[in-house]
Amino acid sequence: MQLLKWSTDLELGLEDIDHQHKQLINMINELSLAIEYAQSNSVTLAIVDRLQGYALTHFKAEEEIFSKYNYTDRAGHDSEHEKFNESIKYIRRQCELIDTPMSARIRDFLLAWLGNHIMTKDKEYKSFIDKMPVQ
Ligand SMILES: [Fe+2]
Ligand SMILES: [Fe+2]
Repeated sequence: MQLLKWSTDLELGLEDIDHQHKQLINMINELSLAIEYAQSNSVTLAIVDRLQGYALTHFKAEEEIFSKYNYTDRAGHDSEHEKFNESIKYIRRQCELIDTPMSARIRDFLLAWLGNHIMTKDKEYKSFIDKMPVQ
């Protein structure tokens, strides 16, 4: 089974944000294990709920950074977050509607999304901040 491992490649160097990314990875891994061991939908649903709430908190923290630094690709980044929020809502609905264990495809989607998003979009805003003149 594929789990996402934290590595320094994923590190942005922003303590709070790195901590939040680690928490998100832990939650997706927890969901992966629940799927792998075919836990009931109520178990997976509880993890999805926590992931949904934590992702919202994390995205809000990043969006505050974008405001603080007048980040130029804010709209593009926000819309990626929005797409993730919509996907989680869809996953949640599926979880409620279908009384079969959650598909591994969902896990693969979440793992791929988070890894790619940190490595591309999140690293882009960090390098934008790094180029700002020191105030
Ligand atoms: Fe982000
Ligand atoms: Fe992020």
